[in-house]
Amino acid sequence: MEATCSEVVRLLLFSLVLPLSLRPALAVDTFSKGRNITDNGSTLVSADGGWFTMGFFSPGVPTKRYLGIWFTVSSDVVCWVANRDHPINDNSGVLYVNDTGSLVLLEGSSGQVAWSSNSTSASPVEAQLLDTGDLVVRNQGSTASLWHSFNYPQNVFLSGMKVGKDFFSGDEWYLTSWRSADDPATGPYTRKLDTNGLPDNIVWQGNVKTYRSGPWNGERFGGIPEVKTYEEGLFDYQMMTSSREVTYGYQVRPGATFTYLVLTEAGLMRRMAWEASSKAWKPYFKGPRDTCDDYGKCGAFGVCNISAAATSFCSCLTGYSPASPSTWPKDGSAGCRRRVKRDCGRATDGFLPVRGVKLPHTHNATVDTGISLEQCRAKCLANCSCLAYAASTLTPDGKYTGCVMWSDDIIDLRYVDAGQDMYLRLTESELPPPSSPPSPPSAPPSAKSFPSAVVAGAAVGGVALIALLILIVIIRRRWRPASSSRSPAISAMPVEHPARSPVLSESKPRPPFPTVPFVQLCSLREATGDFSKSNIIGRGGFGIVYEVNKYVTTSILAN
Ligand SMILES: *[C@@H]1O[C@H](CO)[C@@H](O)[C@H](O)[C@H]1NC(C)=O
Ligand SMILES: *[C@@H]1O[C@H](CO)[C@@H](O)[C@H](O)[C@H]1NC(C)=O
Ligand SMILES: *[C@@H]1O[C@H](CO)[C@@H](O)[C@H](O)[C@H]1NC(C)=O
Ligand SMILES: *[C@@H]1O[C@H](CO)[C@@H](O)[C@H](O)[C@H]1NC(C)=O
Ligand SMILES: *[C@@H]1O[C@H](CO)[C@@H](O)[C@H](O)[C@H]1NC(C)=O
Ligand SMILES: *[C@@H]1O[C@H](CO)[C@@H](O)[C@H](O)[C@H]1NC(C)=O
Ligand SMILES: *[C@@H]1O[C@H](CO)[C@@H](O)[C@H](O)[C@H]1NC(C)=O
Repeated sequence: MEATCSEVVRLLLFSLVLPLSLRPALAVDTFSKGRNITDNGSTLVSADGGWFTMGFFSPGVPTKRYLGIWFTVSSDVVCWVANRDHPINDNSGVLYVNDTGSLVLLEGSSGQVAWSSNSTSASPVEAQLLDTGDLVVRNQGSTASLWHSFNYPQNVFLSGMKVGKDFFSGDEWYLTSWRSADDPATGPYTRKLDTNGLPDNIVWQGNVKTYRSGPWNGERFGGIPEVKTYEEGLFDYQMMTSSREVTYGYQVRPGATFTYLVLTEAGLMRRMAWEASSKAWKPYFKGPRDTCDDYGKCGAFGVCNISAAATSFCSCLTGYSPASPSTWPKDGSAGCRRRVKRDCGRATDGFLPVRGVKLPHTHNATVDTGISLEQCRAKCLANCSCLAYAASTLTPDGKYTGCVMWSDDIIDLRYVDAGQDMYLRLTESELPPPSSPPSPPSAPPSAKSFPSAVVAGAAVGGVALIALLILIVIIRRRWRPASSSRSPAISAMPVEHPARSPVLSESKPRPPFPTVPFVQLCSLREATGDFSKSNIIGRGGFGIVYEVNKYVTTSILAN
């Protein structure tokens, strides 16, 4: 009896002090001259939540020591490494604040400086590990930072960091991969924000582009529309575009779990989010997702279709034919050429919509966010060198506006679920006969690709959908025979549309609520390859999102 009680009390206490208990008893988040961090297990732990820890670690060879910052809950996820390119070869490392305001990491045995913040100050400085994971050096008593680690992003992109360019100072912030999973040294991959045209994230291997997120459309990066299914519950994008800088970052929503984006040593982008219940990181996003995301897979004027047979992902845009017919389409990298020269004197050109794509690279494109899509069409038509156009901007209510026009290679184009439309300039003879209804350029975005009910459900959250499903089941069972409405529970049921209940009962029988598509478990299993991990492309508010050939299906049952 007594033991049970104390057990309960202990459990209660444990859950109450859980965030604090992450912190070792003597942990502090700030240090200054006179207090050193040495390689004997001493650490700095951020205040408030204690979410981040800084100390010495070895990712691989135990004799190579690094000073790093990691998630307190998961020391294997290291977010930042001070001496990534200068490991300390023994346990003599010491981090201290020197007399001229620098944070210095010294290899004690050799006296060599392994890393330094290079900040300078005449007055005393202190260093603090913030609960965002940012290590800040500043004058004691001041809030302005002299130096902070978020200004030096590495492979992990945290909430509150930013990447991009400052055109005045010339500063550029970008991600760099580790060399290998156990070597934090600067690796071959970088991910930079391309600020020419519309902002776009490009992963580079050395000086070769390997992957592009798609242009920023005002809401998100256009090549990964599925981000919408989890972004809304997790974080807000923060894009800054001015004459001074083009940068972007994201801010985790209050109360949302930890999340981070990482550029892996293999050049992959991954978004992970911490699942407290299972104490594990869950993958939300992986890019490139498939071979069609490989930059320039189908060359100039080619388009990649991941649903096509493996040897024919690539096809040429209408009006274009393979530049290298002998290798096409197995190797699409040579791209396509125009079949016939356009005659610019004649104003008979038109536009063919290419539906649901990740827009081509806009690096050399002309952007005008201030005009409508209709004006964009006119502007493109009036300029002979304009080869295609598309909307530059997605408004918060889901409409496309603004203008981006291409006048050189259309490169890195692919079909993508819930993608945008691009309008390809063609001559009159190349356009489909007008008998097929012409699609107005201002047509709403192709919404066909995402099963809308499913995505809406994911966005709104599982609770609502599950509640709705339960309601439907209850109503189907009890509504029909209850036309007399005898049970009070039943009469209370259609509370959402009390005014419409008489209409419902007088009209021909129809479901009292909008129908939700039901999917058989077996067909879901078949479509997702038995819920195969390799088909997972993300996670929504209530389940895992699988890629099913061209379609994205959300499994309510799998989670
Ligand atoms: C901190 O480290 C520096 C450099 O090794 C050393 O000069 C200083 O005495 C150390 N201070 C303390 C309090 O250990
Ligand atoms: C590590 O060494 C410092 C002195 O350099 C000492 O103050 C501290 O208590 C030691 N920490 C541990 C965990 O032994
Ligand atoms: C502090 O460290 C910086 C960077 O290593 C160095 O340039 C400076 O000379 C150091 N100051 C002192 C007083 O040692
Ligand atoms: C500090 O200065 C040294 C020498 O100029 C340089 O090698 C090092 O990269 C600088 N460190 C930082 C963090 O900028
Ligand atoms: C992609 O390929 C599949 C399979 O051949 C085809 O059904 C589909 O229509 C293609 N998509 C587009 C947009 O052409
Ligand atoms: C942009 O133009 C430059 C110079 O003509 C060319 O080298 C580059 O490939 C073009 N980039 C894209 C993405 O079209
Ligand atoms: C037509 O487009 C090209 C490429 O964007 C641009 O350089 C040129 O100034 C435009 N011409 C006119 C008349 O707007």
